[in-house]
Amino acid sequence: MGVLRLAHVSIKAPDLDLAAAYYTQVLGLDLVERTNDDNGDRIFLKCWDERDHHCLAIRYDPRVGIDRFTFKAEFEDDLDEIENRVTRYGVAVERVAKGEEVGQGESIRFATPSGHEMEVVNDVVKVGGRLPLRNPTPVPQDLVGIAPPRIDHLLIHAEEVPEMVHFMQTTMGFHLTEQLLSGEGHQMGAFLQRSGRPHDIAIVQGPNGGLHHVSFWLDDWDHVRRAADLLAFHGVSIDIGPTRHGITRGNTIYFFDPMGTRNEVFTGGYRPDPDFPTITWTEDNMGRAIFYYEWKDNGRFLTVHT
Ligand SMILES: [Fe+2]
Repeated sequence: MGVLRLAHVSIKAPDLDLAAAYYTQVLGLDLVERTNDDNGDRIFLKCWDERDHHCLAIRYDPRVGIDRFTFKAEFEDDLDEIENRVTRYGVAVERVAKGEEVGQGESIRFATPSGHEMEVVNDVVKVGGRLPLRNPTPVPQDLVGIAPPRIDHLLIHAEEVPEMVHFMQTTMGFHLTEQLLSGEGHQMGAFLQRSGRPHDIAIVQGPNGGLHHVSFWLDDWDHVRRAADLLAFHGVSIDIGPTRHGITRGNTIYFFDPMGTRNEVFTGGYRPDPDFPTITWTEDNMGRAIFYYEWKDNGRFLTVHT
């Protein structure tokens, strides 16, 4: 019972036509629908192997940034349990009724200690993946662009990382797989999971409400190399990579969408069980923790965010 995985991330962009072109043709997501209502002008996108309505929502706004992130709970009753725990923690919870939000039923929303709006939902509209559930081929034959099969995680900023970690552990039972400690022993970075992967959400010290990146899963390292070829072909601004993280042990490439939101495609990493012990990195090893091959930040990775 409880939180299963990251469901979707809702971001803002100043050009929805450009966003739709990039996210469908370069990243290779499927455009599910475009709506224009009291919640704004928005596009909803999903990966080819996802069956729920969307993993990414983009709302027109003159400024880039994050609106909210949404996790999926296994059962409808989980919403009551999480609402109780979040309320007991001292955080107000808002119920969003079925029919109020595109692509989903009832949900709960609340402000996290990191200054983000977080949502938990169980009931989502099923639109189906590109493969049938009976005798499927391994890969659809008509994919365009990088075409990740699913969303993987997001990285947000928080002024007080330990406070956010405590909130996620206490109210929703997230497991701390890895942490980065400053020379004084202060938690500067934290990696939390519910889904049995190295992280579903990561939190790094920075301005409250900030978004560092949204990450999509690829099935193997060769797909990361192919992603780099496609990004270079399309003239997309690559931040760093392909490379490997010390933290999570994943293989990665970071790049920016045309509006400036950082994207990642990611593969590999270990498979943590619920009793996985927390791995600690110290500040003097921060370069290797972040980029294992380079041993240092590129001067942009730790400072540029939306
Ligand atoms: Fe990441």
